[in-house]
Amino acid sequence: MKVLVLGGDGFCGWPTSLHLSARGHEVVIVDNFARRDADVELGAPSLTPIAPLETRLAAWHEVCDRDIGFRRLNIAEDYEELVELLDTVRPDAVVHFAEQRAAPYSMRSSAHKRYTVNNNLNATNNLLVGIVESGIDTHVVHLGTMGVYGYGAAGVTVPEGYLRVRMDGDDGSEVEQEILYPPSPGSVYHMTKTQDQLMFAFYNRNDEIRITDLHQGIVWGTQTPETVRDERLINRFDYDGDYGTVLNRFLMQAAIGFPLTVHGTGGQTRAFIHIRDTVRCVELAVTHPPVRGERVRIFNQMTETHRLIELARLVSHLTGTPIHHVENPRKEAVENELRAANRHLLDLGLQPITLEDGLLREVTEVARRYAHRCDRDKIPSRPRWTEPPATAPAPPADERPDRGDADAVPAAAKS
Ligand SMILES: NC(=O)c1ccc[n+]([C@@H]2O[C@H](COP(=O)([O-])OP(=O)(O)OC[C@H]3O[C@@H](n4cnc5c(N)ncnc54)[C@H](O)[C@@H]3O)[C@@H](O)[C@H]2O)c1
Repeated sequence: MKVLVLGGDGFCGWPTSLHLSARGHEVVIVDNFARRDADVELGAPSLTPIAPLETRLAAWHEVCDRDIGFRRLNIAEDYEELVELLDTVRPDAVVHFAEQRAAPYSMRSSAHKRYTVNNNLNATNNLLVGIVESGIDTHVVHLGTMGVYGYGAAGVTVPEGYLRVRMDGDDGSEVEQEILYPPSPGSVYHMTKTQDQLMFAFYNRNDEIRITDLHQGIVWGTQTPETVRDERLINRFDYDGDYGTVLNRFLMQAAIGFPLTVHGTGGQTRAFIHIRDTVRCVELAVTHPPVRGERVRIFNQMTETHRLIELARLVSHLTGTPIHHVENPRKEAVENELRAANRHLLDLGLQPITLEDGLLREVTEVARRYAHRCDRDKIPSRPRWTEPPATAPAPPADERPDRGDADAVPAAAKS
């Protein structure tokens, strides 16, 4: 199949591109390097030394004798070029990873909120309008997030996207309908993902675009069978307070003996998936497209749920690293339960990798190996969801929000 991978230089997009290429698909990556620009803006590069994309692609050709194409485009802005690319490649599938994906980054300042909304909503809308304009029949596979459901659904197993509801009809009868599960975003980033869902519903109904929306859990791990084949193919590993995902942060902190930073009580429950399962799930979605006219498919792309304090205790137990509770910068419930359905991908053949399978290997092979590249100053998560009330006592110096760059324009927004 011919597959365009939008955001193919990123944490999920790069290993997915290699995985699809290794299985014989013809892959073209599209990226504007906004993520690499954010590394520079935050002064927090990947823990692993990621090579420039040109070097990555040349290494892949050397190792595998396969070519992956590349087009540098900002899909939120370069609409004409995007349409031309769709028209030229005529892909069977477009995998859409190309969004600003960090909740803390999206809450840094007004400029970061506006950048995240402009980038993410225009990227998705341009893709969908571009498909309509070019007249191609392609399948959009989008990476959404489990965060669209919110984290307050105690006592209910979160379904895969749709909720069956019963309402009182005007004539007194009971009316049954399936609706999108009520969105409840917890950050500006999550808000853009909930709005993506409406765009998918609209263009799917109006223009019969075939769409699979993968509501992904927090991704952990770094390497896949393809990225370990040569050091120039290594995947990125974010550990900083903006882009680092919680379990990878714990693993890196353990590797350098930094107390595990648990926000608040750590009673928050989240959904997780290993990066090796991410790439398999995307392949399953790409190779099992919906038929024209079918409503948007929504799959929960997660394999297990854990309370954050339990994860911290597990890593602490395995490595002897102490746990440090810090003030929670987010505005969220102190604790929540989370159970979510994930039958669709299991039925397509996904065999999940669980924490027990890979945890220690990740610590030793990646985090410890590159621990010397870590800047400890970048570990605390500084963006605050809301400013503390003026009367509240000041937090300790090392937990104070960094306001120095609060009004700075995000690097990616300038490119
Ligand atoms: N990493 C996770 O834990 C996780 C969890 C759930 C969902 N997701 C979703 O998966 C997708 C990929 O996440 P990731 O972790 O790989 O993020 P990432 O930031 O590493 O990768 C995103 C890529 O998209 C590119 N990009 C962003 N805006 C673009 C634009 N306008 N034009 C062209 N390229 C653009 C970036 O340069 C980057 O290479 C995101 O949409 C994210 O919301 C990720």
